[in-house]
Parts: sequence; C-alpha cells; structure tokens
Amino acid sequence: MRMISVIGTGYVGLVTGTCLADMGNTVTCIDIDEEKIAKLQRGECPIYEPGLSDLLARNIEAERLTFTTDYAEGLRDAEIIFIAVNTPTTPDGSADMRFVRAAAQSIAEHLDHDAIIVNKSTMPVGSGDLVTEIIRAHLAHPDVQFAVVSNPEFLAQGTAVADFQRPDRIVLGSTDRDAASRVAELYLPLRAPIMMTDLYTAEMIKYASNAFLATKISFINEMARICERLGADIKEVAAGMSYDHRIGKYHLEAGVGFGGSCFGKDVTALAHMASEAGLHPQMLTAVLEINHDQRMAIVEKVATLLGSLRGATIGVLGLAFKPNTDDMRDAPAIDIIHALTAQGALVQAYDPVARETGRAAIGDYHVTYCADAYAAATGADALIIVTHWNEFKALSPAKLKDLMRRPIIVDGRNIYQPEAMMKAGFIYRGVGRGGAALNDEASASVAPAKARPAMQARALRKPVDRPYARPKS
Ligand code: UDX
Repeated sequence: MRMISVIGTGYVGLVTGTCLADMGNTVTCIDIDEEKIAKLQRGECPIYEPGLSDLLARNIEAERLTFTTDYAEGLRDAEIIFIAVNTPTTPDGSADMRFVRAAAQSIAEHLDHDAIIVNKSTMPVGSGDLVTEIIRAHLAHPDVQFAVVSNPEFLAQGTAVADFQRPDRIVLGSTDRDAASRVAELYLPLRAPIMMTDLYTAEMIKYASNAFLATKISFINEMARICERLGADIKEVAAGMSYDHRIGKYHLEAGVGFGGSCFGKDVTALAHMASEAGLHPQMLTAVLEINHDQRMAIVEKVATLLGSLRGATIGVLGLAFKPNTDDMRDAPAIDIIHALTAQGALVQAYDPVARETGRAAIGDYHVTYCADAYAAATGADALIIVTHWNEFKALSPAKLKDLMRRPIIVDGRNIYQPEAMMKAGFIYRGVGRGGAALNDEASASVAPAKARPAMQARALRKPVDRPYARPKS
C-alpha cells in the first residue's frame, strides 16, 4: 500500500483520491480552497456524484483519507503525488495552466524526499515537460529525485466511481519507465489493460479520445438533422449503425448536443494546439459548430411551433449537462434558456438536483425555478426536455397535458416515444425523428390554448401579445 497525495479536489481529484484510499492506500488530498477542505474534513461531499459520499465517509472513518490546505503536511511521506487541478479554457481557446503551474511550484517548494509526480488533469501535449521544468526550477531541496508520469483520467461524471473502479484502460506516459511501472502497480488490482507510452503520446491519447467521442455526438446530430428533413428516424438509424461492432453503440444519442467540463474545453484546446502548430483542424471546428447549432435548433423548433416566443411560458425539464450530476459547466440548458428569454419567453425550469447550481449559472431573469416537473409544466405553452433524467421518463402524459396551456413537447433528448405522445394528444418534436414523429405541422399552430388560469396570468409580469402561428390554410 502506498502513501499518496492528490492535489485538487474537483471531480477528478476527489474521485481519484477517494477510490485510491478505498483500495487500501493512505491518501491526503490537498486543495487551496479552505471552505471545501473544511467541508471534506467534516465528511461532507462537495459534489453530487453517485456512490462518492459513502466511499468518502468509509475511508475517512478508516483513517485512510485526509484533507488539508497545507502542502508541507499533505506531501509528507508521499511516494506518488497526483496533480488533478482544473485546466479551464482561456479566451483564446488554449488550456489555462495557471493552476498546474502553481501546483508544480508548491510541490517543488515543499518536497523533501524522492517522489513520482503524476499528471492526472487533462493537460496540453508537452505539459509533462513543463511540470518537470517548473519543479526542477523551484526545488527547495535540490538533491530530491523526481519523475513525471502522465496518467490521464477517463472517468465520466455521474458514473465516476464505477469508471475509476472498472476502467477500460490505464494509460501511463513517461520518459522514466521505472516510475511508470511503479504507478502501474497502484492500478494492478483493477485488472484493466495498462498501456505505457512516452509522455506526449499519453497526453494526446486523452485529447484524441475526448475529441473522438465529441465527434460521434456531433456526427449523430448532423445525421439527425438530415433524418428530420428526409423523414427518417435517428434513433433507429443509430441502433442500426450500432450493430456494426466497428461503430459501437455509445455516444450516438442525438439531442441538444454535448456539454460538461470536458468535451467543449478539450476539443477547443486541441484545435488551438493544432492551429498553433500550423494546422487547420477542420473536423474539430465542425464538431464545435454543430454542437453550438444543436442548442439553438431546439429553441428554433419551439419558436416555429409557437409562431413567436414573445410572452410564451416555456417549461424546461433538466438543467445539468447530463443526468446524475448537478454540474452546470457548459450545460446546454444555459444557452437554451438564455436564448428563450432573449426572445421574450418566460421560463419555468426544473432539475432534480441542479436547481441551485442551475440558478447560479443561468440567473433569475425571466426564469422561475420549480420544485418539480409538473410545476414547470403548469401553464406552459411548450415543454422542452433538456436533460434526460430518468424521472422525466415516468411523467404522466395525461397529467402534463392537463397542466399545460398548450400540449407541445419538444424533446431535446428523445426520451419519449413520438407515437405515444401524439396519441396522448401532444404536438411532439424530438431530435432527428422524421416520418411519423412529424405529426401534422398545421396542428401545432392550431393547438388551442386553454384559458390562462389566474395564477398563470400573475406569473406574467407585464401584458404581452401572443402572436402564435396562424393555422395553415
Ligand atoms: C466525458 C468523457 O466521457 C470522459 O471519458 C472524459 O474523461 C470526460 O468527458 P462527461 O463529460 O462526464 O465525460 O460525460 P459524457 O457522458 O461523455 O457526456 C458528455 C456530454 O455529451 C453530455 O452533455 C451528454 O449529455 C452528451 N451526450 C453524450 C450526447 O449528447 N449524446 C451521447 O450519445 C452521449
């Protein structure tokens, strides 16, 4: 069992530290955020991640997992030090390495014994060299020996603990084989394939993997647009494609596009690296453009069905960038809700766990945050599904229809069966669901609006006109 330090208690750092402790190692997590560390010392999990709270409590209790803001204390006796700080996007698209640089410098200033430094955060190709240089330049004890290993993390939010415990592969890149082998030993109990490469290649594997997954999503979203125009159904198209094992079934769900802390950031950073290297990353640029358009397409769909969004009340189900997390980083809901309110709509939003993080990311301008999905639907002229939380699949269509002012559902995640929703009396639009799903364009514009209940009328702050599209003659 090893003595380990993990710097950074975000998703990657906290999950890595907790899971390594659960494997029997002694782990100290270091973060400069005093409030967060105080919370963690009390055993409170600062993020919503299934399974993490229990694991955290168990390992704190077993005294294998501790938290500190003090580098000297946190690095004491550490054999392996993970850098898991975040690398956000800068305005020019490159990765912001401020936190990595600061972590590397702090390690150098406090390390008084030999250790292996592991780059766990997603860092631009060449960062292994950068960290080596910074540590070498600032070593307080120049006789200390160290090696840098790149060990990118592939966990996804919402399934982070399971992803750590059952990884598809472990990638280790270093110029020091011996150091990489010692890090590999940590992961042996997980029985995953372990791949050893040079530093640059390991760093690139992470970017290429995320870029490929993002490409799959933008690809299927482009196919969805074509399906809509040509009358095919993207869900069946994707299912038909997925039987080919060369294609596979994952990340082929059409919808409002990808969000989260990784895909947008990493594709942007990779495109930036390519441009800096004199290349023209056409595919990566297209992936980002398609993703942006996909968010706006959902707003256009609602606007088309209603004729105008001005004064309309729109229910939005789901704020987090994906289910089973409260994370709002680059969540499609932010752009979608801002576009709706910019066009004069009032939004009634609901998310099972991202209510507060959602409010912080989106704000209150023309947005009400509701206590449940039915409240978000009450008096709505249309309902948009933005995140595919399981509980939305179990909503009663009859109840929704009763509560809504107009029976219009725009399903940005294709969670409902078009036929079932149409049978229930809804004007239903999914993403890429041509054919049967395109029920009678005219009926959308003639869907009779119910008389506005008094409560709903009050919710509208000023009188507004509602120029719904007129029925086609
Ligand atoms: C991703 C990678 O999956 C993970 O390996 C990497 O380490 C970090 O980035 P994450 O961002 O947590 O993980 O979630 P992921 O499940 O990949 O979803 C990202 C976004 O794509 C979400 O907004 C999700 O809703 C969307 N998505 C995913 C689709 O729109 N369609 C799909 O088929 C899959």
